[in-house]
Amino acid sequence: NRYVVIMAGGRGERFWPQSRLRRPKHLLPIVGELPMLTQTINRLGSVVPPENVLIVTNLEQREAVLEICPMVPAENVVAEPVGRDTAAAVGLSTVLVAARDPGASFAMLPADHVIHDSAGFQSILRTAFAAAEAEEALVTVGIKPEYPATGYGYIQRGEIAGTIDERPIHKVVAFKEKPDEETASKYIKSGDYAWNAGMFFWQVPVISREFETHTPGLWKALGKIRAALDAGQDLGTLLAEHYPNLEKISVDYAIMEKAQSVRVVGSAFDWDDVGEWPAVERHHEKDDNDNVTKGSVVTLDCKGNIVMSDPSHTVALIGVEDLIIVRTEDATLVCPKSKAQDIKQLVKSLGEDD
Ligand code: GDD
Ligand code: MG
Repeated sequence: NRYVVIMAGGRGERFWPQSRLRRPKHLLPIVGELPMLTQTINRLGSVVPPENVLIVTNLEQREAVLEICPMVPAENVVAEPVGRDTAAAVGLSTVLVAARDPGASFAMLPADHVIHDSAGFQSILRTAFAAAEAEEALVTVGIKPEYPATGYGYIQRGEIAGTIDERPIHKVVAFKEKPDEETASKYIKSGDYAWNAGMFFWQVPVISREFETHTPGLWKALGKIRAALDAGQDLGTLLAEHYPNLEKISVDYAIMEKAQSVRVVGSAFDWDDVGEWPAVERHHEKDDNDNVTKGSVVTLDCKGNIVMSDPSHTVALIGVEDLIIVRTEDATLVCPKSKAQDIKQLVKSLGEDD
């Protein structure tokens, strides 16, 4: 059996003030009409049946997730009491999928990417599943890198391990999460590297072994949850008890950088992480002066701004360039585009309840 688990517990801090703890990036229609998470589920098509789709989110977001994803059975929407980053989310997913089918293969997919070519995406999903089932390996999807981004993982391609659906499956020589810019530039020049799409495919026993080898503490704690689940205890109660103590680390650092047997399949679809405000320019129509606007916005002598409001509140700009201006009911952001990466820091200083 094949399963898909969507990781939907991030905070999307770089999209403040639209993105909030209870209403983060993946619950918003940052690009398109539907929330990113809904688009993500719809994009799966018939690759796996809805009863085999799980969503791992958190308690703050659970209600909203259930509302925008009616196609996923409610019991498949699991809420972490606190976010412990993606290694814990993947480990928990492994336990949950194993409880249903200990020999299953499953995909871990991000909730908040923009991909328009659903058919191309589904085709790669099938190939990646088949690759994960053909070998005891961790399978990744590689994106052709466009610039020395420091917010992605980099996958160094090695020799071809096999061919599936006429697509080469490469061995991975090394996986480097979020390198600095100098290193990223070297990677891009060498031509051997792909960006990590943040999508992973593996069999339950294979990823279980990797957890046991590389993060034994985390795996042991998850083992307690698994044993108690088998004994019939309630998942919510177990998570409330054990989850806050889990190590907080991403799966990229905890597992992918260390694993020996990693494979990569090249993507054949458009892909955009849309990681911060300037990225929305790639997906919205611009006016004659390169401004992107949403809602009621008036500009005079303005160039290259991103301005978001709603129809009931007019934002008026005169003579400004390259600004991000986002107005919501209870907060307004004004920030030069060049400083967009600092929004995350600002949100931290606002405290947990932003
Ligand atoms: N359930 C849960 N719990 N989900 C989480 C948590 C958590 O604590 N933290 C993050 N997520 C979700 C996010 O909502 C997103 O869908 C996905 O997991 C990835 O997390 P990000 O925080 O967005 O990761 P990233 O973008 O910095 O890096 C990852 O994705 C890149 C591609 O977009 C890495 O895998 C990189 O290597 C990769 O290049
Ligand atoms: Mg991300």
